[in-house]
Amino acid sequence: MSGIPSMHPRELKALGDFIYQELGIVITPAKKTMLEARLHRRLRALGLTSYSEYLDYLRSAKGMEVELPQMADCVTTNTTCFLREPQHFAFLAETVLPQFLERHRGEVFHLWSAGCSSGQEPYTLAMVLSEFRERHPEFIFSILATDISTRVLQEAQRAIYPLEDIECVPVAWRRKYLLRSKDRSRNLVRVAPEIRARVQFRRLNFMEEWHFREPMHVIFCRNVMIYFDRATQGRLCAKFCQVLVPGGYLFIGHSESLSGHDLPLRQRVPAVYQREE
Ligand SMILES: C[S@@+](CC[C@H](N)C(=O)[O-])C[C@H]1O[C@@H](n2cnc3c(N)ncnc32)[C@H](O)[C@@H]1O
Repeated sequence: MSGIPSMHPRELKALGDFIYQELGIVITPAKKTMLEARLHRRLRALGLTSYSEYLDYLRSAKGMEVELPQMADCVTTNTTCFLREPQHFAFLAETVLPQFLERHRGEVFHLWSAGCSSGQEPYTLAMVLSEFRERHPEFIFSILATDISTRVLQEAQRAIYPLEDIECVPVAWRRKYLLRSKDRSRNLVRVAPEIRARVQFRRLNFMEEWHFREPMHVIFCRNVMIYFDRATQGRLCAKFCQVLVPGGYLFIGHSESLSGHDLPLRQRVPAVYQREE
């Protein structure tokens, strides 16, 4: 690729170590071209000519403060969609929520979409929970949605999506929860204010210290740990277990697995685990 400086194997190793340490993301040698292409624009923006200079800047106090978030925007993969892995939402609505009402009537249901990307997952969850609330007005819920990337969090808060992204959303939900742009030629929809108001977005890096005031009843952390190694996955899930209420649920991506980890979790259905009581 013309104009993109080539990354020396030593630079790839040093950047990979830095990214692993700060973000938990594993950079294999096969990702060299991807990394070069994605970080190239940061080098250009900063007027730097090599990845070594870039790494020196990243490691400085100013770099850690202002450049680390920019780098996180570049190196994360943020693929997502509405109603992704739909079995999860059915299990939530048909099993988890009725169980919660039976056991914890009167309490607020706390759900965390951890690694929420541009918002399609937490907004889907807000629709599922709102539907349940329509049938059970006593059900009160709160959704926290976090990601390390400020770029995707801004998109999530804007809550504007191309029309083709909502094709999988049932028509009745589209009518209720998604607003078509007034200018029909723009083919955009915006999540309705009452659904937007249901989700609180926050930047959170799993590799840093984090605590919540309220324990979580459900955590969705799907298609995130796939970028981490087994040791990081184990440590992260152990922390999830600390913030989950006993009997709470952890949803992971269907291509991910927690088998072999020593965790107080029991698998209930594919990619859904329950914290031991
Ligand atoms: C592929 S998206 C998954 C989105 C959604 N959960 C889904 O399944 O559709 C993975 C997200 O994890 C986030 N992520 C990666 N490393 C992270 C970290 N160390 N802390 C917090 N979020 C991270 C990325 O920014 C990205 O938006």
